[in-house]
Amino acid sequence: MVIRPALPHDIEAITAIYNDAVLTTTAIWNDKPVTVKNRSDWLHAHQEANLPVLVAVDQDQTVMGYATFGPWRDFEGFRHTVEHSVYVEKTKRGHGIGRKLLEALIDQARSSHKHVMVAAIESRNTASIQLHKKLGFIQTGHMPEVGEKFGRWLDLTFLQLTL
Ligand SMILES: CC(C)(COP(=O)(O)OP(=O)(O)OC[C@H]1O[C@@H](n2cnc3c(N)ncnc32)[C@H](O)[C@@H]1OP(=O)(O)O)[C@@H](O)C(=O)NCCC(=O)NCCS
Repeated sequence: MVIRPALPHDIEAITAIYNDAVLTTTAIWNDKPVTVKNRSDWLHAHQEANLPVLVAVDQDQTVMGYATFGPWRDFEGFRHTVEHSVYVEKTKRGHGIGRKLLEALIDQARSSHKHVMVAAIESRNTASIQLHKKLGFIQTGHMPEVGEKFGRWLDLTFLQLTL
């Protein structure tokens, strides 16, 4: 497995992973899938803003997952804090890819002189919460019933890593 910055030809795979998360998980609190153009514009905007979008690829350059971060809140005082996300293609989960992506993202945040990384995770998403705890994140918040998807209320758990 290699972790590298995302390139335009990765966009179809990134879109497929994103849309699967929209349709089948509570990792993204949206209901509607997006187009390849939507993700392409998103990648371009991240590149323009010098924000990382990393992919994990196998020896055939097949994208197995991706991770990114951006501003946590859009006020100057929050400029040292980022919020990130990580997604692994559903048939590739449980093989260490999420961990590698998140480790690489932490390295990027450190080298960009960020101070805090925030993860906002649906409270029943044990896999993601455990992954973050393994890498040193601590839980700093829990907000009951702030979202709704698949006909039920969703709680949001915040974890953070102080770099
Ligand atoms: C959460 C996610 C990114 C984890 O990626 P992954 O590649 O499956 O995880 P890894 O194999 O790297 O596991 C790393 C650690 O996470 C934890 N973990 C992973 N899957 C788990 C599961 N199903 N249950 C409990 N803990 C789990 C374990 O602590 C694991 O460490 P270990 O292997 O030493 O036990 C992946 O499941 C995913 O993409 N889920 C759907 C999208 C999502 O929820 N993204 C996060 C949004 S906040």
